[in-house]
Amino acid sequence: MWDIINDLVKELEGFQAKTQAEVEAFRVRMLGRKGILTGLFEDFRNVDPRQKKELGKKLNLLKNQVQQAIDVQKERLAAKTPTQSPADDLTKPAEILNMGSRHPIAIAQREILDIFRKMGFSVEEGPEIEDDWHVFSALNFPPDHPARDMQDTFFINSQTDNPVLLRTHTSSVQVRTMEKQKPPIRVVCPGRVFRNEAISARAHCIFHQVEGLYIDENVSFADLKQAILVFVHEMFGSSARIRLRPSYFPFTEPSAEVDVNCNICGGTGCNICKNTGWLEIMGAGMVDPNVLKASGIDPEKYTGFAFGMGVERIAMLKWQVRDLRLYFENDVRFLEQFQGGLL
Ligand code: PHE
Repeated sequence: MWDIINDLVKELEGFQAKTQAEVEAFRVRMLGRKGILTGLFEDFRNVDPRQKKELGKKLNLLKNQVQQAIDVQKERLAAKTPTQSPADDLTKPAEILNMGSRHPIAIAQREILDIFRKMGFSVEEGPEIEDDWHVFSALNFPPDHPARDMQDTFFINSQTDNPVLLRTHTSSVQVRTMEKQKPPIRVVCPGRVFRNEAISARAHCIFHQVEGLYIDENVSFADLKQAILVFVHEMFGSSARIRLRPSYFPFTEPSAEVDVNCNICGGTGCNICKNTGWLEIMGAGMVDPNVLKASGIDPEKYTGFAFGMGVERIAMLKWQVRDLRLYFENDVRFLEQFQGGLL
């Protein structure tokens, strides 16, 4: 009888059921009416009275251990098996997936790029961390130009001949393009830019630009005007009008600021256009010969135009957003108003 008991103890130690049915079978084999333990308890009656005390203790202990093993296995398997698997109800409608939508800045940027792509421009991108050469020097900024000042530019390392900084415009990508491509060049350069400005409804220290560059033989100011007009018609509708005002940029000559007629008041004057009927949307001009020279392009042979616009500003005008900060707060109530195509 001791042998049987010892064998059972060993079996108990290694007992691992794979299913509830296995646990039940084990219970029946041990504790059922004809079970091994039940049998042992019956045999116990005929045991030598001198052994009864010790054997009785052992048998009771074994019975408890068997019961415990059964409980443990039952619980373990119950935790593993979900009460209902998703496949149980095949008629259940699928869960609704909450689809996100594109950010308004991404929608506006994509629209701007699409318009220029149709005019034959290709898209170029470049690094946000730049050097002085690509952001300033190659673009004909004199050494003492105020834009190099700490007031406007976030410097990363200004202790070298060619300081490292966060680009203040994506004109740097145009320089990189001119350095590696031969004319004709026709590119648009989207990207994030950084300026050390106080954050307000109309200004932010991070914003997005799309700048464009077209270099070929005989590119004229008329080409620039026409490209901008086509862009404005596509973006704001064919009744939109533009106006060019003389301006100054170190990298273009002549330079202009481009206005579009205010689509909020229709030109009669409102607080958005400051009662002028016009809204400024971009800077533009003919590429300065010094800029072409700095990038190894012959200014005697080639001419070009360039322009640059703020994506936030274009999006503001298109959707009449009155505060720039809304773009950065990621408030879903604001963002879900722009259904400009899915991801
Ligand atoms: N780079 C100018 C800016 O950041 C925009 C611009 C681009 C103006 C090209 C003229 C020509 O404001």
